[in-house]
Amino acid sequence: MTKLAIVTGAGRGISEAIAKRLSSDGFSIAVVDIDGKNAKKVAQQINQNGGNAKDYNIDVSDRDSVFATVNQAVKDLGELFAYINNAGVAFIDSILDSSPSDIKRLLDVNLLGTYWGIQAAGTQFKKQKSGGRIVNAASLAGVEASALQSAYSASKFGIRGLTQAASKEFAKDQITVNAYDPGVVRTQLRDNIDKKTSKIKGISVEQQQKDVLKEISLGREATPEDVANVVSWYVSSQASYITGQSMLIDGGMHFS
Ligand SMILES: NC(=O)c1ccc[n+]([C@@H]2O[C@H](COP(=O)([O-])OP(=O)(O)OC[C@H]3O[C@@H](n4cnc5c(N)ncnc54)[C@H](O)[C@@H]3O)[C@@H](O)[C@H]2O)c1
Repeated sequence: MTKLAIVTGAGRGISEAIAKRLSSDGFSIAVVDIDGKNAKKVAQQINQNGGNAKDYNIDVSDRDSVFATVNQAVKDLGELFAYINNAGVAFIDSILDSSPSDIKRLLDVNLLGTYWGIQAAGTQFKKQKSGGRIVNAASLAGVEASALQSAYSASKFGIRGLTQAASKEFAKDQITVNAYDPGVVRTQLRDNIDKKTSKIKGISVEQQQKDVLKEISLGREATPEDVANVVSWYVSSQASYITGQSMLIDGGMHFS
């Protein structure tokens, strides 16, 4: 029986690429998204390409739904091996103008959604006595915070902290926990960031994108597949000795 990978936010963007890559790596895939239509479409595409996928329509900020989805996916698709906490949201605003409801919603989805995923996956791995892999979406903004992205940056710094704490707690059970930090990946989330940032700065979207491009050493934005390559490696046997780490995938934007 193939091993199961649960991928949150997999209805589009980076996570869709991760779900498809892990399917070609031989995993059964639970495609989890708050957008049920997109989740169904991605699961269908995976199945049409010879994979084995099922869609689950939940909001990852709801802890009970996250636990129920892990239980159901294991019944539907088999033993859990990898849990990819990739669902996330972003908004652009100054600290002074950010609304309490936007801030709370972002932290609920990005930080607490990841927390619930770690709890649910960790519980399942312990039940299976199997070990396993947890991989979390952080960001370049979680390594070096961005202006106009205070709540987002805080959530992503938090995810790197959670990743380290979970890696230390889970290591004795052979569960590894790692994160990845994309720089600029052209998705709907990034389109929205560019639109709002350029509006606040009073420049065109094209100018905003050109300015950002100048900061990328390799001279191009990342593709979702660039990120999926790293996640594929994190869950492979080659990364079995790697835990508590977060890897920048930014084409050379930040050097530490
Ligand atoms: N695109 C980038 O440049 C970039 C850079 C760094 C980090 N990231 C991170 O990568 C991840 C994916 O980003 P993306 O660019 O593909 O975004 P995206 O907006 O294109 O896709 C996000 C997906 O998550 C789903 N989602 C959102 N809230 C959810 C919730 N509460 N429950 C379940 N699903 C939910 C959406 O429906 C969507 O399918 C995010 O965590 C993001 O912060 C993206």
